[in-house]
Amino acid sequence: MPDDRPDKPALHPETRLVHEGGLRSQFGETSEALFLTQGHVYPSAEECEARFKGESKGFIYARFSNPTVTMFERRMAAFEGAEAARATASGMAAVTAALMGQVRAGDHVVASRALFGSCRYVIAELLPRFGVASTLVHGPDLAAWRAAVRPETKVFFLESPANPTLEVIDIAAVAAIAKEAGATLVVDNVFSSPIWQKPLELGADCVVYSATKHIDGQGRCLGGVVLASEAFIQEHIHTFLRQTGPALSPFNAWVLLKSLETLTLRVEKQTRTASEMADALAGHPKISRLIYPGRPDHPQADIIARQMRGGSNLIALEIAGGKAGAFRLQNALGLIKISNNLGDAKSLITHPATTTHQRFTPEERAEMGVSDGLVRLSVGLEHRDDLMADLLQALERA
Ligand SMILES: Cc1ncc(COP(=O)(O)O)c(C=O)c1O
Repeated sequence: MPDDRPDKPALHPETRLVHEGGLRSQFGETSEALFLTQGHVYPSAEECEARFKGESKGFIYARFSNPTVTMFERRMAAFEGAEAARATASGMAAVTAALMGQVRAGDHVVASRALFGSCRYVIAELLPRFGVASTLVHGPDLAAWRAAVRPETKVFFLESPANPTLEVIDIAAVAAIAKEAGATLVVDNVFSSPIWQKPLELGADCVVYSATKHIDGQGRCLGGVVLASEAFIQEHIHTFLRQTGPALSPFNAWVLLKSLETLTLRVEKQTRTASEMADALAGHPKISRLIYPGRPDHPQADIIARQMRGGSNLIALEIAGGKAGAFRLQNALGLIKISNNLGDAKSLITHPATTTHQRFTPEERAEMGVSDGLVRLSVGLEHRDDLMADLLQALERA
């Protein structure tokens, strides 16, 4: 198949998200085709052998290569500025591959402690079962990262902004500490989306996304992606995924590929609305604390100004009435739906202490900043005034 990739340097991000990575077939279709197929036939036994040996390029089997999945990977890599990408069945499959693909028994991992519950499970509970020790640190505290390093430390892992507290970590500084320690840095970039932050440019070795969030952004399918240099992908990721099989379905890859075409439009609009709503809600008597990356009162506002090109569509709100107040707020909402997903066209609200972070002890939640009154609002594509009207009437009852 011909490679449709236009010249890279001249293209702006929006253009790349529409055109990059296409593999137009012999039928000359305008939009990218959905290859809902598993295997491929070879013109000869010799060609088949050459493909398995890696001497000839071409598709083999959908567990590790499919034309539609490849188009999604290539478009993501081009947009992220990565040499290579591998798609996975979910964001957690991407996180697990990025970690498990790099370590072996005896190694050590350091991670920020404010993490999405499943990321924290993989690091603090799953890896130790296989002899990989882990240390959780307060992410913004650079001295804590340095102090946690051991001779056997192989990987640093962080989320920034973190789920759900929107805590921000200085990625360039942590990448420098990792490099000095001989470790790699993996960044879960879900909360900024690929639009607002480029961890590879800040010195990270690997970026992971749950494509389920802003990349799909319309509540349809699960997906994930790991992005890094070609050498990193070959050494740590490709074989792990090929042999263990958490493959992205070609159908989901096709949905995600088409979603990328509108990613900029959607995330820019959602972020603009979230930023205006955060300003309008700050100081509301029923909100004891509002955290929004982009406001000057964010605890890491200086780092945000350095490393993020925009804010986020997520706002963290601490409701003054604690858990009861947070529940009253959620139950009084009409337009904004109670749901634990994020980055969607629909505005969604969740109470992390009883959902995404419910499996942790109260002490662990307190350490992560997940209080009983905290709610996480993911701003969608609705009109700001409709969302504000819904929130304000619900806050009256919170
Ligand atoms: C920060 C972060 N990382 C990873 C994931 C996992 O993504 P998925 O649900 O696609 O497995 C999530 C899901 O909420 C998330 O918020």
